[in-house]
Amino acid sequence: MKIALGSDHGGYNLKNEIASFLKDNGYEIKDFGTYSTESCDYPEYAQKVAEAVAAKEFDFGILVCGTGIGISIAANKVPGIRAALCSDTFSAHATRQHNNANILALGERVVGPGLAIDIVKTFLASEFEGERHQKRIDKISLIEEKYNK
Ligand code: RB5
Repeated sequence: MKIALGSDHGGYNLKNEIASFLKDNGYEIKDFGTYSTESCDYPEYAQKVAEAVAAKEFDFGILVCGTGIGISIAANKVPGIRAALCSDTFSAHATRQHNNANILALGERVVGPGLAIDIVKTFLASEFEGERHQKRIDKISLIEEKYNK
């Protein structure tokens, strides 16, 4: 499974922890930056990861900023992206099952590394349930189409 990773400075340390976990567990990863704790702007990394995931170059993306909020808002501007900010494992499996989320967003200042890794494991192990949920996702796509003309 191929995973695209990105963060700003506020998510840099947690992104590295997630990268180590994924590498140790046989995932293929690409780290789109940032590569230090120097202050930077989260939309840039959200856009890089979201465009790569939307282009189907990766199975999933994982984005981290201080809260996970800014980076998920930015990622969700890319058509085809369903980025879910999760701070618990219930949300992580529910967003895969119901929303077919293709990007997981996390806040380094919100969750500790142990919980974050459990959230990542849960997100990647959970599957979309389709059926009635697909109809709702199709309605999200219609909203995108309306505003992308
Ligand atoms: C950076 O200080 C911080 O604003 C950013 O990481 C994130 O929390 C934005 O939503």
